[in-house]
Amino acid sequence: MPRTRVGAEGASHAPAWGWRVLALLLGPLGCGPAVPTAADRAEADRIFAERCANCHGPQGRGDGPAGRTLDPPPRDLTDPAFLRARTDEALARAIVAGGSAVGRSPAMPGNPDLADRPAVVRALVERLRAHGPPGGRAPRASAHR
Ligand code: HEC
Repeated sequence: MPRTRVGAEGASHAPAWGWRVLALLLGPLGCGPAVPTAADRAEADRIFAERCANCHGPQGRGDGPAGRTLDPPPRDLTDPAFLRARTDEALARAIVAGGSAVGRSPAMPGNPDLADRPAVVRALVERLRAHGPPGGRAPRASAHR
């Protein structure tokens, strides 16, 4: 049985640019606003239940068990005024990079693994919008204050 391998990096035949070529090929699909598929939406639901509900509550009302001790408390993600005051981009940024990336509490953790899954992030944002006020959607990005 061979012992320690010397020069293991030399054995790596999968160059980093390979992923870029793949991204270029798939790029047209992922360009612009990523359109979530049914699978992305299912994944977003799963992620919300697994990672977010603990703090934000199962309906996103900011009443999850792990959120009770936090100050400021987890945002009520269904609050119409809050949803109106945030663009989709800002919500996505908070989700991927965490509260500190949008000038909020660092207790809101980032989800860096979602950085290369824009369609899932978008599905999460849409999910928040859907749980918000009737009609769901905030004004267009240009309307933010
Ligand atoms: C450890 C608890 C915790 C978890 C887990 C958590 N959050 Fe938060 N979240 C917070 C807190 C606390 C705030 C309030 C930050 C503030 O107002 O300063 C917040 C704020 C937010 C905001 C509002 C940011 C803004 O612009 O005001 C969004 C959107 C959000 N969370 C989405 C999510 C989503 C989606 C998940 C799951 C992927 C998640 N959070 C997981 C604690 C959490």
